[in-house]
Amino acid sequence: MKAIISDIHGNLEAFQAVMEDMRVQGADELICLGDFVGYGPNPKECIDLAVDFSIALCGNHEHALLTQFESSNFNIRARSSIDWTREQLNPLGEDREANLRRWDFLDSLEMTHEDGNILYVHGTPRDPVAEYLYPRDIYRPQKLRAIFEMVQWLCFCGHTHVPGIWTQDMIYLTPQEVNYRYHLVNKKTVVNVGSVGQPRDGDPRATYVLFDGSRIVFRKLDYRVQTTARKIRSIPQLDPYLAERLLEGR
Ligand SMILES: [Fe+2]
Repeated sequence: MKAIISDIHGNLEAFQAVMEDMRVQGADELICLGDFVGYGPNPKECIDLAVDFSIALCGNHEHALLTQFESSNFNIRARSSIDWTREQLNPLGEDREANLRRWDFLDSLEMTHEDGNILYVHGTPRDPVAEYLYPRDIYRPQKLRAIFEMVQWLCFCGHTHVPGIWTQDMIYLTPQEVNYRYHLVNKKTVVNVGSVGQPRDGDPRATYVLFDGSRIVFRKLDYRVQTTARKIRSIPQLDPYLAERLLEGR
């Protein structure tokens, strides 16, 4: 069974809760769709936990780290967290060997991954790193059609931090609307797996997806969010709003 996660964002407590749940649920193929770092207080520890994933994609936060000037497109909050993350990963600092290994990992991330008729991206198939696919895009048929043209059967994405399902007939379903379980049919489908470390769907629990070849299960997990929030507040370079939003899942 595959476990597909995204948008960990340096949140170690959420990531550890998800890792434990994936083990208990019997997932044997771990896939991450990017944004291991950025916003959160434990970028190094989250990269170290991710090295065993069978598929690991590049998110826009890794892209910003790797291409320096790209982070100038970020808002001030995201940019200062990326600058702070870059300092933590300084290969000339005290953690030299470990940080060099972490840069190797970041450098190895794929932009997209295709496995038969299943496509994995961070953003969307037509712009795998940066484009957002929103629930409201069912009212933008041109955009949705262009995206579905690049999907053979199934596509997993992240990036918005909002889990959900789109089908090629312009239907959008929330996890709640399908009672957190969805049987795939013979229709092109895009699934946003939500966010481990910074959910924005109004539910502060860590979110990810299990996939057994025919059924999608959305998992929602409580974790020690107060601990993560406290860590964020103790780091001056991280905006305290990043702690507040975790508590509310927005
Ligand atoms: Fe993200």
